[in-house]
Amino acid sequence: MDAQDTAVAHEEFFKTLAEKSDGGTLRGDYSKADAQYVVDQDWAAYTPEQHALWRRLYERQAKLLPGRACDVFIESLAALDAANAIPNFVDTSEALFKATGWRLVAVPGLVPDQTFFEHLAARRFPVTVWLREPHEFDYIVEPDVFHDFFGHVPLLFNPIVADHLQQYGMGGLKALKLGGLKNLARLYWYTIEFGLIQSPEGLRVYGAGILSSGGEIEHCLTSKEPRRIAFNAERVMRTQYKIDSYQETYFVIRDFQQLFDETAPDFTPVYERLCRQEALPADTLLPGETDLTV
Ligand code: PHE
Ligand code: FE
Repeated sequence: MDAQDTAVAHEEFFKTLAEKSDGGTLRGDYSKADAQYVVDQDWAAYTPEQHALWRRLYERQAKLLPGRACDVFIESLAALDAANAIPNFVDTSEALFKATGWRLVAVPGLVPDQTFFEHLAARRFPVTVWLREPHEFDYIVEPDVFHDFFGHVPLLFNPIVADHLQQYGMGGLKALKLGGLKNLARLYWYTIEFGLIQSPEGLRVYGAGILSSGGEIEHCLTSKEPRRIAFNAERVMRTQYKIDSYQETYFVIRDFQQLFDETAPDFTPVYERLCRQEALPADTLLPGETDLTV
């Protein structure tokens, strides 16, 4: 694709967003993105104020991790040495590639589903380059570099999660062809973004959407409101989710091997079953399911 074709393709992507939400404008600068939506991070362009805001975000969030985040997240985050400034993706990629064969690629923000899956299938994790504004300290609509990096990158150092996400990317390309995108997106939402995991000391968080949130990280573990249900891939893929409030249900995995193993089978028959069934509201508790006590 030449630059003209690339620009046209980006416009097509924006149109699909406008159909989904009102407005549908994204705040990133897509004008320099290539056909795979990759940009240069331009690390030198971050201002001292932006690095200072990152430090504040990091500090607030790091304090909340002990006793709440799973151990592998805490350990990998510490090894990243990202407390003091917005990280340079080139440096992180080098360390990450040595650990699990993954790299980070810089993107202007959300990218089309197919592009996202293609990156994951090639062991590339897209990370948004821009940082939220100070008034968005607690809540941000589109994912920014803090959510993408702080929330997602540490677990990419875990070999099982790394392999799982690549498989997810390949599964996404397949789901696009089979009409299973909605179901597969729910799986990502309730695991990679909002998943809980068992530990000998009790429930812990591994989902990036929770780990990068100042409020939900406490709420998801201690509130009496939400359901906490043992993970089952097909059940999760039937379940709707809310994007503008805390989750009404969290799904709990035993360990990352369970997540890998239960998502390994061919989903073709699963998609066929699911398209003939009603989706479940986010707050469903099915007969026979136990709400795990906190
Ligand atoms: N096993 C799934 C399929 O055949 C792909 C997949 C792997 C989905 C890992 C999610 C996570 O479509
Ligand atoms: Fe995310």
